[in-house]
Amino acid sequence: MGRSSLYVCQTCGAQTRQFFGRCSACGSWNSLVEQVVTASDTRRRRPVASAGAAAGAAAGAFGAPLGAADLLQRPRRSESIHTVGERPLQRLGSGYGELDRVLGGGLVPGSLVLVGGDPGIGKSTLLLQSAEAMAARHLVLYVSAEESAQQVKLRWRRLGGAGSQLQLLAETDLELVLQELESLRPAVAIIDSIQALHDGELASAPGSVAQVRECAAALARIAKRQDTALLLVGHVTKEGTLAGPKVLEHLVDAVLTFEGDRFASHRLLRAVKNRFGATHELGVFEMRDRGLVEVTNPSELFLGSDEPSAGTATIVACEGTRALVVELQALVSTTSYASPRRTATGIGTNRLHQILAVLEKHLGLPLSRFDCYLAVAGGLEVEEPAADLGVATAVVASYRDLTLPPGTVLVGELGLGGQLRPVGQLELRLQEAARLGFRRAVVPKGSGLGPMAAGIDLQLLEAGTVAEALVLALGVNPADDRA
Ligand SMILES: Nc1ncnc2c1ncn2[C@@H]1O[C@H](COP(=O)(O)OP(=O)(O)O)[C@@H](O)[C@H]1O
Ligand SMILES: [Mg+2]
Repeated sequence: MGRSSLYVCQTCGAQTRQFFGRCSACGSWNSLVEQVVTASDTRRRRPVASAGAAAGAAAGAFGAPLGAADLLQRPRRSESIHTVGERPLQRLGSGYGELDRVLGGGLVPGSLVLVGGDPGIGKSTLLLQSAEAMAARHLVLYVSAEESAQQVKLRWRRLGGAGSQLQLLAETDLELVLQELESLRPAVAIIDSIQALHDGELASAPGSVAQVRECAAALARIAKRQDTALLLVGHVTKEGTLAGPKVLEHLVDAVLTFEGDRFASHRLLRAVKNRFGATHELGVFEMRDRGLVEVTNPSELFLGSDEPSAGTATIVACEGTRALVVELQALVSTTSYASPRRTATGIGTNRLHQILAVLEKHLGLPLSRFDCYLAVAGGLEVEEPAADLGVATAVVASYRDLTLPPGTVLVGELGLGGQLRPVGQLELRLQEAARLGFRRAVVPKGSGLGPMAAGIDLQLLEAGTVAEALVLALGVNPADDRA
């Protein structure tokens, strides 16, 4: 029983016997970390599934190989889908409508939810507030592996915690956390954070892929067995991904990311994976001194100043089932570099390059001699191409020093041929714009609005190409006097 070395990629979890500078599985550089496999690692307290029937016999006892045992206890025959019993999915309200929305309607018992985000963004705050709210009706355990019980209590007081029956455990040792979960059998448990937990039987350091994977797997087994809903906090690495991302993402039922501008007060919660609901739902919170407060009317956050200025355009973005009216700003100025600068915040730079190329080609604007900066108000990331027309309009408005008539929104995707393409959920977008007092919308031709649109109090201006759309939006033809 000696020691041997294994090299584990900290990005994707791939293992090799030999060291490489670059992971052959995912291609990331310098991500292999040596992991010493000691004899104790092979006599795992949770043997692998191949242990077969013997493992099944041990099922139920603490530390039994639950995943395998579970399978063995179930009938091994298939059955018709019609005879499978239906049980409506129960959900526990998290105490926050915005969090419930992102979860798909609440926490599902026995599910695992990973909540990721940068340090200091407010993960602990969100989960402690939610734990406090849930503890009014359920047994809730909060495991703090990063802060002492006193620190958590101080925060709990600051957040206005008072009467609940919240249980607290400050512990980093996986074994003790598992024991507490077994004896307490809470309805909900929060692990803050999964990277700070440590399995004493593994030689690798806390936070390494092997540790994170092992700890999460052990917690998952127990959560499924006793129907405890588990919320795991996960940290984001320098590269902006969840540590051990692939291994954890496969293991959990839902992955939520908590993000936001550290210099602004609002925070956005999204589901990037959800086995019990839709992804790309958006929850919006605001960080106040007494904790996180829900923002139920977020469009107002992403609308800039009331004063219209040159280079500003308003779009309607869709996040899941929610439409958001968002302001964009562009600045186009003569370049003093050989290759002009293009900087975009909140929109992919490649997308901006593409839109600039379309404008140059189809409107004859000499944008390659100009620097171009673009920003989305409120730190929102807009990924969908429906923002294209807004970006193009903001850029042209800045270039021509034009101000859009107030109360105009722009929706449409730009094709490389300069045509304007229809976008999804147009009615939802228009309703939100109308609700916020917008009066005109420039939209792609042939969008095929349904009967719902009849009730929307908005002047619709349809355009087939970006050139037509810009004339409608700006009231003048930007290509007229070619520079
Ligand atoms: N005692 C405190 N008083 C005021 N603000 C605090 C206090 N503790 C933490 N905060 C602030 O709350 C924010 C969220 O912190 P936290 O929930 O711990 O983030 P995370 O768990 O994501 O690292 C941080 O910006 C932090 O500065
Ligand atoms: Mg924290």
